[in-house]
Amino acid sequence: MSEDRELDVVVFGATGFVGRLVAGYLAGHAPGGVRIGLAGRSGQRLADVRTGLGAAASAWPLLVADLADPASLAAMARAARVVVSTVGPYRAQGLALVQACAGAGTHYADLTGEVLFIRDSIDRCHDAAVAAGARIVHCCGFDSVPSDLGVLGLHQAARADDAGDLQDTTLVVTALRGGVSGGTLASMMGEQAEVRASEQRRQVVADPYALSPDRAAEPDLGHERDPGWARYDGGLRVWTGPFAMAGINTRVVRRSNALQGWAYGRRFRYREVTGFGASPAAPLLATAVSAALKAAGAGLAFGPSRAMLARLLPGSGQGPGERTRRTGYFRIQIHTRTSAGARYLGKVEAQGDPGYAATSVMLGQTALCLALDTDQLPDRAGVLTPATAMGAALAARLRSAGHTLTTRQITELPGKLSHPAGHPGAGRVALVP
Ligand SMILES: NC(=O)c1ccc[n+]([C@@H]2O[C@H](COP(=O)([O-])OP(=O)(O)OC[C@H]3O[C@@H](n4cnc5c(N)ncnc54)[C@H](OP(=O)(O)O)[C@@H]3O)[C@@H](O)[C@H]2O)c1
Repeated sequence: MSEDRELDVVVFGATGFVGRLVAGYLAGHAPGGVRIGLAGRSGQRLADVRTGLGAAASAWPLLVADLADPASLAAMARAARVVVSTVGPYRAQGLALVQACAGAGTHYADLTGEVLFIRDSIDRCHDAAVAAGARIVHCCGFDSVPSDLGVLGLHQAARADDAGDLQDTTLVVTALRGGVSGGTLASMMGEQAEVRASEQRRQVVADPYALSPDRAAEPDLGHERDPGWARYDGGLRVWTGPFAMAGINTRVVRRSNALQGWAYGRRFRYREVTGFGASPAAPLLATAVSAALKAAGAGLAFGPSRAMLARLLPGSGQGPGERTRRTGYFRIQIHTRTSAGARYLGKVEAQGDPGYAATSVMLGQTALCLALDTDQLPDRAGVLTPATAMGAALAARLRSAGHTLTTRQITELPGKLSHPAGHPGAGRVALVP
């Protein structure tokens, strides 16, 4: 990759809700000397955002670029070593920027959770990115960094102990509190609309190996659909329900396994659930949250209710307020058993609204990692995942930024999973600021 770029990092979409947060995080935390630019389709709005970022950003260059203008994307890709994009929904027009970055040998990271977009990116940009030495990294926020780095940490711990391959592996969200922005809702509704309109796309999204680099080579492990309803997990001794992000996270984690030559194991079975504990109220809570998720999905899927919700919920540029972002949090446990019978527990936790405060840390650190940690990154290029593009280097950065990522071998289930009364916020999501 060429080192003679004008800028180290460009934040494209800096006028949007999460783009402003990422720009703000970099203004507060990027080391001196890192050359950062802000990009978007309105020079005036970019100037307003830059003013709001204070002295640290006052000299940051502004780049006017529009997804509808390929020449502007090519110029932006040529100007920077790393482009991070918060311009979503990505599926609508986002591929043009991925193509520009892949062609120019520019590293790229984003916050998409849209399976159809990533599948297209793999099919159309992977080879060009490999040829040019670009790391294209989707899903660099709450989906799917905690899942992807958490499972990588389990694999590395089991490997270090010579404890065999990962087999049954379950991510349990034990506590979650946060909000949602207009861009996230638009992205979810966009993918749902496409899936409803096309049986072929529905099958792509439903495939547990939708993001595989080689679908035919994936193992046949039987039923691997994402859990859709409340159920008691006898192994973990806890009531569980679906987790809304499982549909993207599980596919990213399986892609990470395949891109590493199935290093986690050929019998790696992975799922993600929300945990509700084992109290008498747990089955009711798990059922109620499962029903609410189904209702929300149906509400977003059908025209009239979708139009009504669109009027009530945040629009573009809007999202959770400062207090919700500050007081939000997430706590995740990942349980695995290895082929040698060892049991490991990973924990990933952070203070701050998962999708916004914590996500701006994840994407901001991703940008710095891709720009500054070149000699510590795995020797890979192409359409990658957070774990395969950055792995331990990003995990170390997130720990330094205050996030928890730990792994340890265990013999007993931890108390908090089986007695979640200690997590009064379990499964709670505040939708509006
Ligand atoms: N993975 C995660 O954990 C996570 C968390 C949060 C958000 N997200 C994703 O991040 C994305 C952004 O969300 P958001 O709430 O920040 O959205 P938003 O507030 O609507 O911001 C969208 C941004 O895209 C820009 N934009 C739209 N069309 C453009 C075009 N043709 N050319 C250039 N820029 C264009 C907008 O510019 P203008 O200001 O000019 O309109 C704005 O800056 C969504 O896809 C969402 O799902 C993911």
